[in-house]
This record gives sequence, structure tokens and C-alpha cells, in this order.
Amino acid sequence: MRIDVVQGPNLNLLGARQPEHYGAATLDAIHAAMRRLAEELSTAEDCVELTFFQSNHEGELIDRLQAMASEVDAFILNAAGYTHTSVALRDALIASGRPAVEVHLSNVHAREPFRHRSLLADVAKGSIVGLGARGYLLALRALVEELRGVQLLS
Ligand code: DQA
Repeated sequence: MRIDVVQGPNLNLLGARQPEHYGAATLDAIHAAMRRLAEELSTAEDCVELTFFQSNHEGELIDRLQAMASEVDAFILNAAGYTHTSVALRDALIASGRPAVEVHLSNVHAREPFRHRSLLADVAKGSIVGLGARGYLLALRALVEELRGVQLLS
């Protein structure tokens, strides 16, 4: 199973940028933790492979979704500021035909009103907000279980 982790603008600054909102972990540390979880979740029949991409540019994020759509089973996407503005990114996600989990480190609903609206939320499989770096790990676990058809309740 392959999942592409797509990170939007300013997330390259994690660790230094507004830690009161985004925590102390760097993007590299978050990705390393995701890699460790992917190993844990891998089985002999199904290796969980992750790829990572970060860009500060809307068009590059769109290019990435287009390029990876046929390569991966799902996306984990934190479009950062573009979440609230980008019709083009929304269109690219729809066009990818792949399920995505939208992640936000901060609780966007407890912040400025312009962050309450996501143009991606209703076209994503689900959203995880406000749980910091843990949100990425939860998104990964949820997607792997979903894609494997794991039933939690009988
Ligand atoms: C963010 C929330 C966005 O509103 C903001 O523009 C970001 C990060 C988050 O992860 O909490 O850059 O996506």
C-alpha cells in the first residue's frame, strides 16, 4: 500500500513556527515518526510505503496530486493556508480519485473565523484537526485500516 503525505506552505518551518499552535516537532521528526508507524503497520503481504512532499507553492501541490494519483492508494494532506482558499487544490484532489485524510496540527475551529472553512473537508475521506503531530499518525492508521477493510465493530 502506498500513501503520499503532502504538506503545504510554511510547514517546512515546523518546530520554529508558532509552537503554541503547531507544536515543537519539526516536519522531519513528524515524517520519521510516520515512517516508524508505517513499518509497524506493515505485514508480510502488505508493506505500507510512504512518500513525502512539501511545497510553499500552490501549483506544485497540484502537480504533486496529479503526478501521484496513479502511483498511490491514498493521500494524507495538510494544505495549510491553501486549505481555506484553494479551489484549484480542491479540484486536483477530486480529480485524483484517491481518498485523502485532511490533517491540521492546530484546532482550526478554535482560531480565526477564516480558518473555520476548509475547501477540502467535504471532498476528503475525513479530517483530523487540533491533535498536533499525533494527527498525522492517526490519519495513517485510519487510512491503512480503511484500505484494508478492517472492521472495528462486529
Ligand atoms: C494548519 C492550519 C492552517 O490554518 C494554517 O494556515 C497552517 C497550518 C495546521 O496544520 O494547523 O499553515 O494547516
